[in-house]
Amino acid sequence: MWPFIAFMTSARVAAEASHAHFVYHPRMLYSSSLWLHSLLRWAVLLTGAVAWFRSIGGATAKRPWTSKDELWGLLFIGTLDTEILVGLALYIFLSPFTKIAFQDFAGAMANASLRFWAVEHIAGMIIGIALAHIGRVKARKAATDARRHRLVTIFFGLALVAIIVSIPWPGLPVARPLVRF
Ligand code: HEM
Repeated sequence: MWPFIAFMTSARVAAEASHAHFVYHPRMLYSSSLWLHSLLRWAVLLTGAVAWFRSIGGATAKRPWTSKDELWGLLFIGTLDTEILVGLALYIFLSPFTKIAFQDFAGAMANASLRFWAVEHIAGMIIGIALAHIGRVKARKAATDARRHRLVTIFFGLALVAIIVSIPWPGLPVARPLVRF
């Protein structure tokens, strides 16, 4: 939130100093959403990794399912759902990449970067999010704690793979920074 707050503050100070009116610019909403979306990726990966490692440990040690397992699963799903909301706002309203792609969808498919933002990123993430949700529902309904740990290991593991391969990591043709300031 800091870059956004700092930007807002400096813009207001500048506007007040010149007695000008503060003018809202839609690009600000784009850059702050992109910043939040980029940051939330780490919350998704961290909560997912903790929930997944706990389930592996629980399955191998035949440990009972505890409220902490429940909590980390909930945190993973919660950050994922928040991430998808910001992603949808970017996808539908804010991103200049999807805007260009929607103007000529067939043409965009021939461009690797536009295809990534219009199709590959969202498809991979939706698969990951669906797997995580299915895993959680199935784990809740499972008859034994051992099965609960096993289901979470499988479904959260697959969800994390789908999410990780759909992230625009540095070094890829669609590279984005690891952290935005
Ligand atoms: C686990 C879920 C997701 C993760 C971890 C994730 C991660 C990321 C990352 C790291 C970026 C690059 C941000 C940057 O430039 O700094 C990005 C951009 C973007 N994501 Fe996601 N994303 C997720 C889900 C989604 C979903 C579901 C959608 C669509 C509904 C979406 C749409 C977009 C769009 C449109 C952009 C920005 C393209 C632009 O630069 O204008 N994301 N995402």
